[in-house]
Amino acid sequence: MRDNDISINKLRDMIVTVDGPAGSGKSTTAQALSERLGLTYLDTGAMYRAVTWKVLQSGIDPDDREAVTNIAEETSLEIDISDSAPVLFVDGVPTGSEIRGPEVSEAVSPVSRHPGVRRAMIRFQRKAGNRGGIVAEGRDTGSTVFPFAHVKIYLVADMEARTKRRVKQLKQMGITQTEDEIRHNLAIRDEIDSGREYSPLVRPVGAFVVDTSGITIEDQVTIVEEIIRRESSRLGDLYEPKGRKNPYKRGRSAYFSIVQMMIKFFARLLFGLRIYGSETLRFSESFFFASNHISWYDSTLVGSTLERETWFVAKKELFTNRFLSWLLRKQHAIPIDRKGFNRSTIKAIDNAFKRGDSVLMFPEGTRSKTGRLKDFKPGIGMLAYRSGKTIVPAYISGSNALKDCFLRRRRLEVRIGRAIRIPDGCESDDRKRDYAVLSSMIHEAMKMLEDETYA
Ligand code: DC
Repeated sequence: MRDNDISINKLRDMIVTVDGPAGSGKSTTAQALSERLGLTYLDTGAMYRAVTWKVLQSGIDPDDREAVTNIAEETSLEIDISDSAPVLFVDGVPTGSEIRGPEVSEAVSPVSRHPGVRRAMIRFQRKAGNRGGIVAEGRDTGSTVFPFAHVKIYLVADMEARTKRRVKQLKQMGITQTEDEIRHNLAIRDEIDSGREYSPLVRPVGAFVVDTSGITIEDQVTIVEEIIRRESSRLGDLYEPKGRKNPYKRGRSAYFSIVQMMIKFFARLLFGLRIYGSETLRFSESFFFASNHISWYDSTLVGSTLERETWFVAKKELFTNRFLSWLLRKQHAIPIDRKGFNRSTIKAIDNAFKRGDSVLMFPEGTRSKTGRLKDFKPGIGMLAYRSGKTIVPAYISGSNALKDCFLRRRRLEVRIGRAIRIPDGCESDDRKRDYAVLSSMIHEAMKMLEDETYA
């Protein structure tokens, strides 16, 4: 499986996400964009609506977590994406206006709040969109479903504009609801959508915010289209030049390159190391790598696959032995106090980036005994954001059972995920929030690699 390998330097392979609250103009924008750019429109809200419709049909209470989750899991969703406006099939039946009515609109936020429902939908959305060529629209498509989307858009609009749009939309469908009722429904949905524990409505880090309150549909689509075309061409420029050397690839020091190549060679020979998704490394830039951690050998093994002169942090206790300390530093280890980041660690990381090198971090802090991804230590979002670098998730498996890998009873694998970029022009004034959101985006991207590993 080499799913991660997609050519990212073409507009038609892109993943674009459009998120925002109800009535901010997402559907109109996403639909128009998909037509103008030749991409497939992926309406994730329709999937939550379809499940909600089924829940209501079965007479189940939308707040009944277990029953609702069961429905979401047993529902067969299919989508024919050969058309630019794909139709969603629920248990083989095409969905229509029944999922847009007020009953569904009222129950959809409570239904989509349950983590089990979200996981089922997210799995389906990734299957449909992972290969690229899509404009995904929803609440969490840029933050959770596709944290590595090439362009992320976040639409906002004031309450009055949003209410007016809903009134018009419902009228076209022959449904009458008073402005007050609609305003009330929007406010409640905002609250539930933004407040839920897993995968809430948030502005993803790296998203361009567009306020659609006072502008025409035509203008809002044009603004977003310009952003996408500009970012697409910027990504194309970042891709390594054909036939010429990528200046960021491999080490600048011969010693470092040779050691990395030798480690990779022997890991392949002895433990059958496999590397997936290295297409990401073909961009001409240095990276902030974030990997899971299950063994002492991770920095060595993961490091050998990254094709960059990469620094990594290691707990400072390892540096007490003089020989070991010399060896570690030669391999670009940066000492870290496990109680937290101190100035010298941060400075060493900054210096590595200043030299044009990359940095590899293990955000879980310590090795996972179960082999599965743990929660992150605080600080990773801040470090990643502050670095100003493109973030690349990595996932290693098998390094905690090298003997089995040697005997070929297990596989030693490193998966390199797609890049999470934070382009210029999408900074926010709430840094603390951004750090937390970015941390969960990195976690989700690594979790996806874990899912691929154990699929
Ligand atoms: O975009 P819409 O109004 O059709 O979405 C309906 C509801 O579905 C929305 O109130 C919350 C939920 N939803 C979600 O939780 N996550 C998404 N990615 C899309 C929609």
